[in-house]
Amino acid sequence: MTDFDVIVLGGGPGGYVAAIRCAQLGLKTACIDDGVDEQGKPSLGGVCLNVGCIPSKALLETSHHFYHARHDFPAHGISTGDMQIDVAAMQRRKQQVVKSLTGGIAMLFAKHKITHIKGHGCLLAERRVRVIAGEADDEQEFSAGNIIVATGSTPVELAEAPFDGQCIVDSTGALAFAAVPKRLGVIGGGVIGLELGSVWSRLGAKTTLLVRGEQFLANVDQQLAHAVQQDLVDEGLDIRLGAKLVSIKKSAKQITVTYADGDGEHKLQVDKLLVAAGRRPNTGDIGAEDIGLKLDARGFIDVDGDCRTNLPGIFAIGDVVRGPMLAHKASEEGVAVAERIAGQQPEVNYATIPFVIYTWPEIAWVGRSSEQLQAEGIDFESGVFPFLANGRAHAAGETRGMVKILADARTDRVLGVHIYGANASELIGEAVVAMEFAASAEDLARTIHAHPTLSEAIHEAALAVDGRPIHI
Ligand code: FAD
Ligand code: NAI
Repeated sequence: MTDFDVIVLGGGPGGYVAAIRCAQLGLKTACIDDGVDEQGKPSLGGVCLNVGCIPSKALLETSHHFYHARHDFPAHGISTGDMQIDVAAMQRRKQQVVKSLTGGIAMLFAKHKITHIKGHGCLLAERRVRVIAGEADDEQEFSAGNIIVATGSTPVELAEAPFDGQCIVDSTGALAFAAVPKRLGVIGGGVIGLELGSVWSRLGAKTTLLVRGEQFLANVDQQLAHAVQQDLVDEGLDIRLGAKLVSIKKSAKQITVTYADGDGEHKLQVDKLLVAAGRRPNTGDIGAEDIGLKLDARGFIDVDGDCRTNLPGIFAIGDVVRGPMLAHKASEEGVAVAERIAGQQPEVNYATIPFVIYTWPEIAWVGRSSEQLQAEGIDFESGVFPFLANGRAHAAGETRGMVKILADARTDRVLGVHIYGANASELIGEAVVAMEFAASAEDLARTIHAHPTLSEAIHEAALAVDGRPIHI
């Protein structure tokens, strides 16, 4: 007799969603999570709710308002005088947003009668888990018919720039700055570098991004990536490509970053340094080796297309397995695994996972880029429509960016949709649904879009695939 039908290890968007779906399906479920809030109190929701998606979006929202009010209000005839940012108030608001959402998950657990076990879990043989809560001698063991591992990920630390929690920080540190740094350095030109770099840059930090590669946003369709880069530079972000970190020197006054590019070595002086060089899976201390749970060369848990590990009855989902490190990907895997345990035949369509980078304007895409299609030798047609030709974008003063639709040259099936523009994160939903239903560009072109909306740019880009846009 086991204690639970399912034990979920980790309470992030992968784990807590899996637990809720298991409970909905009538399975006796426990979720073991060691996440804590800023006061050290247990807090469900994982990285996403506590130190990831949600707090970063809260700060992006505040900093967007600040920047927008300063730079765009005058054109509307609104004067604000000398504006100030109260960083403490901004941080309190962020924490309130986090608290209400993490508290919401605790309520959902209570509603679904999910047992929340607070502490650090370690896998044992025969689908048992040892939980250490607080003190080392405060140990308990639980058994289950199935285990779902959803232990998430942690920032990569670079040997040249070890985190000190004060001046050289990871994303969690950069979400919690108590004041706007005068000079902020960012190592890494990925998603976190751009989003948190944008937050502090908008609030007045002189922000420099050191990007190791020669290409900006190499994973993004390069037509959009170029436009994004130009706009960010125009807004004051200093982006240095091909900049390889050499060393860091800390003094009482500043951090000196030495980096090398094609022109030799350079020095950059900053007050705070954010290192955002990717994340690694949390598999070091979950007992994987002891029970023979197979990991890949980079430490991710090895799973098949159904998130099954090499051990019977043990599944793994989210950041701890292959695929993009995204909250919605983790959640969908959680739902699918719960349904599989309950005997259903669910599927996760990895080809239609949307990606969003919350700069302003936002960048969002689904499917393949022009560069990927070219590399795969697929013949495609491309339709591009600029927001400059969209009525609502003019009314809103948000004319930067474009929609780009890529469709198979032979079948017209949509292969990729790329949006750079205001509210791209919301607009991309239509494209995801279209691709999920295997739509053609003609399907989108024949779909009526409300006027005046930004979504009309998607309609026009679909028309442009066939060379018949109306407004350009
Ligand atoms: P996690 O959220 O990492 O949760 C894992 C949980 O398991 C944690 O609570 C951890 O404490 C716990 N845990 C780990 N080991 C154990 C153990 N042995 N015992 C018990 N508990 C354990 N993604 C998006 O889709 N959109 C965004 O806008 C976005 N923004 C982000 C911004 C930042 C700054 C960061 C850092 C990430 C962001 N992400 C975003 C990524 C997103 O947060 C992750 O992809 C997502 O949280 C992964 O979910 P998960 O459930 O796999 O793991
Ligand atoms: P990333 O993978 O997006 O970018 C990492 C950057 O660091 C790259 O530019 C890479 O070239 C660089 N880099 C790697 N090693 C380096 C080194 N040794 N020296 C210098 N530069 C180096 O990772 P990031 O920004 O840390 O984000 C982690 C993950 O979190 C992302 O992969 C993403 O999945 C998730 N995330 C998602 C968000 C969203 O969906 N909007 C927002 C924030 C994070």
